[in-house]
Amino acid sequence: MKRVRKAVIPAAGLGTRVLPATKSMPKEMLPIVDKPAIQCIVEEALNSGIEDILIITGRGKEIIENHFDKSPELESRLTKANKSEMLKKILSIVNLPNIYFLRQKEALGLGHAILCSRSFVNNEPFAVLYADDVVFSEVPACKQLINVYNEFGLSVVGVKKTKEENIQKYSSLKVDLVRENIFRCTDMVEKPKKNEILSLYSILGRCVLNPDIFNILEETKPGAGNEIQLTDAMKVIARKDSVMAVDFVGKCYDMGNKLGIMQASVEAALTHDEIGKDFKKYLESISGELFKIN
Ligand code: UTP
Repeated sequence: MKRVRKAVIPAAGLGTRVLPATKSMPKEMLPIVDKPAIQCIVEEALNSGIEDILIITGRGKEIIENHFDKSPELESRLTKANKSEMLKKILSIVNLPNIYFLRQKEALGLGHAILCSRSFVNNEPFAVLYADDVVFSEVPACKQLINVYNEFGLSVVGVKKTKEENIQKYSSLKVDLVRENIFRCTDMVEKPKKNEILSLYSILGRCVLNPDIFNILEETKPGAGNEIQLTDAMKVIARKDSVMAVDFVGKCYDMGNKLGIMQASVEAALTHDEIGKDFKKYLESISGELFKIN
């Protein structure tokens, strides 16, 4: 069995749920206090043992590339000002290994974005980390999935239980418990109608895929939202060989919706080295007012 060395980070979506903020600013660059969401995702991949990363971008997303590139003017300014700690932080982003970029020419759906990565992946198993799903966890979520891949050799999806009132906005999976937080998944449906719900388990932002997904994606027609859905392709594998599902340990934040953005920022601010204490005091100071409103 080949080792999972490569990751694809699709970041070409239009982010319509966060407009107007995302009209010219990619949602993947929205900051969690002082770090863009996509940097958290890249760090998660690297901390999971990934060696090569492909970020799928699109028109208007050039600043994602710029973020991982050198900025000589800024670096020289920080050097002259003796701001060595900040310089170290900036250089650590620039010096990240092997990050490649590819443009999805039209946002035809997540499945189509993954299909664009075919020649990069080149017949190896690979991880997918959705650029707008940030996970805070001790063991990186991607690593948790890779461990299951290494055990079973089957494609793996990261899942979380969703509230009943929300399941129709996400995907729904037919799962059988294997042990603890690991399941075998034999069917799935994207944005199910009420009578199509298979369970409240939904795919959340991470998967490890065998490269046979590409032949299936090539044949996959647009599905929910008239987009080429990755779930529709994974469904074919689930029904044939089954895929594994891991209810990974970690807190997830959807940077593609307004509430998720605020939750990620508040949680990260509370534990932030520089502003954590002051931010906690601030929250305490306004909490009385908040309860009055409620
Ligand atoms: P989403 O469906 O959450 O992203 O895709 P979106 O299309 O930007 O969302 P809304 O509904 O318009 O707000 C999950 C991930 O897949 C990427 C997105 O950038 C996101 O990281 N994606 C989606 C692509 O790379 N290409 C696409 O065509 C669609």
